Amino acid sequence: MYTKPTLVFCFLVLMLIVKQATPRVEFTNLKCMSVDKDFAEFSECTLKSINRTYKYISARVSLYKLPITKARVNFGLYKRFNGYKPFLYNQTINACHFFKHQKAHPVAKYFFDMIKEVSNLNHSCPYNHDIIVEKASTDMVNHHITNILSYPEGDYMLETHWILNDKYAGGIKVYLSLF
Ligand SMILES: *[C@@H]1O[C@H](CO)[C@@H](O)[C@H](O)[C@H]1NC(C)=O
Ligand SMILES: *[C@@H]1O[C@H](CO)[C@@H](O)[C@H](O)[C@H]1NC(C)=O
Ligand SMILES: *[C@@H]1O[C@H](CO)[C@@H](O)[C@H](O)[C@H]1NC(C)=O
Repeated sequence: MYTKPTLVFCFLVLMLIVKQATPRVEFTNLKCMSVDKDFAEFSECTLKSINRTYKYISARVSLYKLPITKARVNFGLYKRFNGYKPFLYNQTINACHFFKHQKAHPVAKYFFDMIKEVSNLNHSCPYNHDIIVEKASTDMVNHHITNILSYPEGDYMLETHWILNDKYAGGIKVYLSLF
């Protein structure tokens, strides 16, 4: 004895559940670039596809002039239209400050939360060790994108630039598709 509007409503709810349950993010590429190999060098920068549902990225930056007492990170989200164009954000944050006051930097926190469980970047300055992100998977990114904040479908690139001890060290670009 269901009325038509009730059925339509149930269908919409079901669609929403199905849509949330399907993977929405795919890593498509990862690029790491360091400018001075005596200062900072990527000893790992990999995108791995284990199977259709399990893909991850890992990166390791070896730092040769320790300690790092100052760190600034610039980040921007690009979207592909006709080539990658700046889409959202162009922020430079003081990373040493960020790790003590994460709530003061909501956008940086949003991105950092995706990888914080799998990285040793979880304390403030000084840094006396290599920086590692180990197996950040599409699942982790999916969780944040679908449950916390959503973006329209398309191809994106998250670009970050790192300035360590007042020296430009390099950058990382993560390419992903949302569908
Ligand atoms: C994909 O690989 C992961 C890790 O090896 C495994 O846990 C998962 O069951 C695999 N999924 C499929 C669909 O094979
Ligand atoms: C971000 O802002 C800086 C300074 O205004 C500018 O040089 C840079 O090109 C901008 N980057 C993006 C992605 O818009
Ligand atoms: C940072 O991560 C390491 C390794 O996972 C962990 O041992 C440590 O307790 C974490 N530190 C903080 C401040 O969360």
